[in-house]
Amino acid sequence: MGYIPEDILQNIREAADIRQVVQEFVPLKKRGKNWVGLCPFHPDKDPSFTVNEDKQIFYCFGCGEGGNVFKFLMKVQGLSFKEAAKSLAQRFGITIPQRPVSKAAKKKKELSERLLDITLSAAEYFQKQLRDSSTAQAARDYLAERGLDEKTMDAFGLGWAEDSWDGLIGFLKEKGLSLELAEQAGLIIKRTNAPGWYDRFRGRIVFPIKDHRGDVVAFGARTIGLPGQEEQPKYINSPESPIYHKGKVLYGLFQNKSPIRKAGRGLLVEGYMDVVSLWQFGVRQAVASLGTSLTEDHARRMKAVTKEWILLFDADQAGLNAATRALPICYKMDLRPKVLVLPENEDPDSFVRKNGPESLGKLLDSAVSGIDFLVETGKDLYGSDTEGRLKTIDSALEAISMVKDPVRKSLLIGHISQRLGVREESLWQKLKEKSQRTKRLKIAYKEPSQEAETSSNFRAKMARIGNRAEEKIIGFLLSYPQFIDRFMELNPELWLENQTLNELWNAMTHLYSMTGRLNLLELYERLEHVPALRSTAMRLASSFPPCSELETMVRDLENYCLNRKKKALRMQLLQQLRDEGENEDCQELLKSLQSLR
Ligand code: GTP
Ligand code: MN
Repeated sequence: MGYIPEDILQNIREAADIRQVVQEFVPLKKRGKNWVGLCPFHPDKDPSFTVNEDKQIFYCFGCGEGGNVFKFLMKVQGLSFKEAAKSLAQRFGITIPQRPVSKAAKKKKELSERLLDITLSAAEYFQKQLRDSSTAQAARDYLAERGLDEKTMDAFGLGWAEDSWDGLIGFLKEKGLSLELAEQAGLIIKRTNAPGWYDRFRGRIVFPIKDHRGDVVAFGARTIGLPGQEEQPKYINSPESPIYHKGKVLYGLFQNKSPIRKAGRGLLVEGYMDVVSLWQFGVRQAVASLGTSLTEDHARRMKAVTKEWILLFDADQAGLNAATRALPICYKMDLRPKVLVLPENEDPDSFVRKNGPESLGKLLDSAVSGIDFLVETGKDLYGSDTEGRLKTIDSALEAISMVKDPVRKSLLIGHISQRLGVREESLWQKLKEKSQRTKRLKIAYKEPSQEAETSSNFRAKMARIGNRAEEKIIGFLLSYPQFIDRFMELNPELWLENQTLNELWNAMTHLYSMTGRLNLLELYERLEHVPALRSTAMRLASSFPPCSELETMVRDLENYCLNRKKKALRMQLLQQLRDEGENEDCQELLKSLQSLR
């Protein structure tokens, strides 16, 4: 299914009542304005999960998960946005129109279907061979020795390609399947010195590779140490074909996507056996990029499942290099990568076998963010003298320069500024030079304010108190958007000190000026790429209590805002006086200052 038109999404949004949907999964009780229940997303004893029907949102005060009806269904069932939309459309009787297709596209699709038919038949053949064939005894022994059980082999459809030139060919002929097409699918190879074909995979265990739809598009095949195989590559893979583009497919993603969505975290590993073996140990979250480096297409597929990924790499130089290469791509595609370097001479398969899934879980919890990894390895790799630090900064900035979301970028810069003891301004400067040099996407980024730099205990304390009032204002306006006009005149953008709230306010006014209304769900969707703002908006909207004395509330808040505005303007004028006062005629400024008392 392709793209869903905006008007259809709008229909779904209007029809899909969040309480009705949530109640299919969570028993809810009415409490005041909200419905409450036990949170399905974390172990919950007191009902901390709330659904607000007016606002059509959910929010859990225990774990902070929140969002609209789409988000709820995605999270609870492990669906993508499209899948959730489709399922809601079905529930609420809305039809999603099919898009018309061109002739060429139709032809391409037909070819794909025929090739997929053949790869599927081949997969079934290989699988049956592994189960029943007498030629597969060595393979069965090999897999048993590696500790794989039946259930796991079935889940991944492992098979056996016997050690013969025409095992598969014989099967294809018998079934009346086209050998030309089998060649196109990469299963058999044309002979050069005689007519006919021969099998590509011989004497190997085969791992069917499924694409994100679950179709078998290719195979990986491993030797099992038969005599004569010593010289051959350990693994061989299907070549690129009309149905297989290795830069787009991740092994294990189809099998594991639902558990990954539910866990909110995926693991990127290096090999077939790692994916399969982790699955057997209950760690159903791994995918592998199969001997190629990570591509943007891979990252896009990963992002469709979750943004949080841990890259698991071997402790050797190759592993470190692979991580260093993959990280900028992850950041560019808006993933939240972490890196875990495994103990020396271990891969995920051997580690989980030796130490069990709990130890692996603990190890995973110690994974560091991609940026921290770059800073750490930078220190080891280049040293901590000036030259070394410059190189480290470069490699971290390389990744950060890829980040599109300005808020996140700013946070990351703040973070490495602290870790490396380099002023933020210098890092922004360097980043700017970098982006000019490479003429990459011209992203407008904000210079961090001077304000943010000075911090004493007193300031921090004042900020906390100020924050509470600031949160109240934003929470109020998210709940009673009809008052936004009155507050826009009080220019919160000038004085909201909390950076997140300030950004959120800007997003709210932007939406309001664009659409003439401030709709919470629209705001939610617009903030897709700014999760920090999104979750703040959901939290504030959900926690704002209904107020009975609306006018009094508005007047109090307005007074507060007016004071803040005056104070901000006063500070501005004082600054101007300080800058210009000595040599200018400052009567005007003094007069304005007077009026702000
Ligand atoms: P096992 O030895 O079965 O545990 O596999 P592994 O996944 O641990 O192997 P390794 O760490 O050596 O390689 C990781 C991945 O790189 C494999 O899963 C393959 O996708 C790929 N790979 C390894 N060896 C070869 C090879 O000889 N040729 C090709 N094309 N790919 C390989
Ligand atoms: Mn291995």
